[in-house]
Amino acid sequence: MNRLVSIFAAIVMISTSHGVFAGDPAAGQTKAQSCVACHGADGNSTNSGFPSLAGQVPGYIEGQLAAFKSGKRANAIMMGMAQPLSPEDMADIDAWYASQTITPRSISEAQVEIATQGEAIYRGGLASLSVPACMACHGPAGHGIPSNFPRVAGQWPEYLEAQLLAFKSGERAGKIMGPIAHRLTNDQINALAIYMAALQ
Ligand code: HEC
Ligand code: HEC
Repeated sequence: MNRLVSIFAAIVMISTSHGVFAGDPAAGQTKAQSCVACHGADGNSTNSGFPSLAGQVPGYIEGQLAAFKSGKRANAIMMGMAQPLSPEDMADIDAWYASQTITPRSISEAQVEIATQGEAIYRGGLASLSVPACMACHGPAGHGIPSNFPRVAGQWPEYLEAQLLAFKSGERAGKIMGPIAHRLTNDQINALAIYMAALQ
């Protein structure tokens, strides 16, 4: 009984860990002016070095901004950008990007074959290495699950690859993604990044 109660309490805590402030997208658009140069006016970034934020699952951007501010997620640029933001600013900015639409990405003929290798892992995992199917958390179409499992569809493949390599090396801390990425080869990571980016 006690165990059930504590499991229930944990679920309530997880589901309420975001959204102390109900984000206001219009206020968020104004507060995101300093982000436009890198992440695009509507959250569709035009530079593969900067992730797109449009259409991200509600709650994820807020959580990542808090992680950059606390230093839990280390990145020199983003730690500086997140520093002046209050929890309310983060919720507003989150609501703004969540309300935007990500532009779908297509891949070249030559990349289709590589993507097929990624597809097998994304949809079925790697049983021999206990790698779970990515779609269990990121969704069958890569749309993510609010609030902690990010959208990957439409993202820059270069960014997805860089993040998986960072999880693998431990440069980006990740209780869930660290052990998963650690079991993937760099070729598998490349194939997964191309496949995920092109999910519609
Ligand atoms: C000078 C360029 C630059 C500016 C300006 C900038 N960012 Fe970023 N942002 C980056 C880079 C580079 C990354 C990737 C960081 C990494 O590799 O961990 C990033 C990552 C992020 C992420 C993580 C995305 C994900 O999918 O995990 C969020 C959220 C984010 N930025 C929000 C913002 C917001 C909000 C602002 C404005 C207040 C902003 N950024 C301004 C360059 C920038
Ligand atoms: C059990 C759930 C779970 C599974 C399974 C899972 N992920 Fe994740 N993934 C997460 C979480 C949670 C995060 C956000 C990590 C954080 O907050 O730092 C994430 C983040 C990511 C990111 C970074 C996205 C961004 O915008 O920064 C990539 C890329 C990714 N996962 C790829 C994969 C791939 C590829 C697989 C399968 C091999 C996979 N994930 C399997 C939960 C999962």
